[in-house]
Amino acid sequence: MLALARSFLERKGLGEARLEAELLVGHALGIDRLRLFMRLDQPLLPEEVDRARDLLVRRGRREPTAYIVGSREFYVRDFLVGPGVLVPRPETELIVDRAREIAKESGWDAPRILDVGTGSGCLAVTLALEIDGADVVAVDLSESALDWAQKNAEALGAKVDFRLGEGLEVARAAAAEGGPFHLVVSNPPYVEPGERDALSPEVREHEPPLALYAPPEDPDFWVRSLADDAQALLVQPGGRCLVELGHLQAERLRGARLGDQLEVNLHDDLAGISRVAEFGF
Ligand SMILES: C[S@@+](CC[C@H](N)C(=O)[O-])C[C@H]1O[C@@H](n2cnc3c(N)ncnc32)[C@H](O)[C@@H]1O
Repeated sequence: MLALARSFLERKGLGEARLEAELLVGHALGIDRLRLFMRLDQPLLPEEVDRARDLLVRRGRREPTAYIVGSREFYVRDFLVGPGVLVPRPETELIVDRAREIAKESGWDAPRILDVGTGSGCLAVTLALEIDGADVVAVDLSESALDWAQKNAEALGAKVDFRLGEGLEVARAAAAEGGPFHLVVSNPPYVEPGERDALSPEVREHEPPLALYAPPEDPDFWVRSLADDAQALLVQPGGRCLVELGHLQAERLRGARLGDQLEVNLHDDLAGISRVAEFGF
């Protein structure tokens, strides 16, 4: 079964066919890779073969593995995902690292945190669990994404105030109603028109366009709009905003000032690529 699965996935052009074959066959049997190897001499039941075949066919159509197995790890926790929500990416963990650092340095008691474009809730839920006393509000325009986020908060035991709506409108309303935020985080859609062809079929054909594409006429819309609203959204002094960037954006924003002359600092990810813009008061 493993050999057949591997050669099928190779024919479909998948780079890590062996690993993926093991993962998907294991998933069909409800066991991890280690247990799979302990069962190598055990014949498969016809329904197990059918289950494995279904998963392999989906992967052969380049559906993201995380959708097929139903989860993806983010900051050492499993987040449930499926069609209709962006799969959390490892580079987004940089926002959590930086947010924790800022919270620690600031010594806030009960920081108010806002996550704009929460998707699976990976940032909102992680910050609610990692930052002591955090009071987290999270917004998304996609009902389906928000369903996943709510499931994740429940499964991981995080308390987050999720709101459905347009990110900036909800942000302003939440600040007006509950007071400004100590931290605003966002991983907004940032793929620019020139980058679309470079996306893998997994991303281009399966992940939600609303989660991927920046407004084509204004690729810096999100970072600029959050900076324009910083006066209303952030606590002064000390409030900070962390926004994930695409790599073309990072080059445009290096050394820039946004909003009311706010200095933008860039943080690099583990691959040395500038990934996160930070600004605030
Ligand atoms: C790149 S995804 C990030 C999801 C998640 N924060 C993460 O890091 O995996 C961007 C998210 O922003 C949401 N979004 C796009 N436009 C929006 C808008 N105008 N208002 C609120 N959310 C929006 C999308 O639905 C999507 O869930």
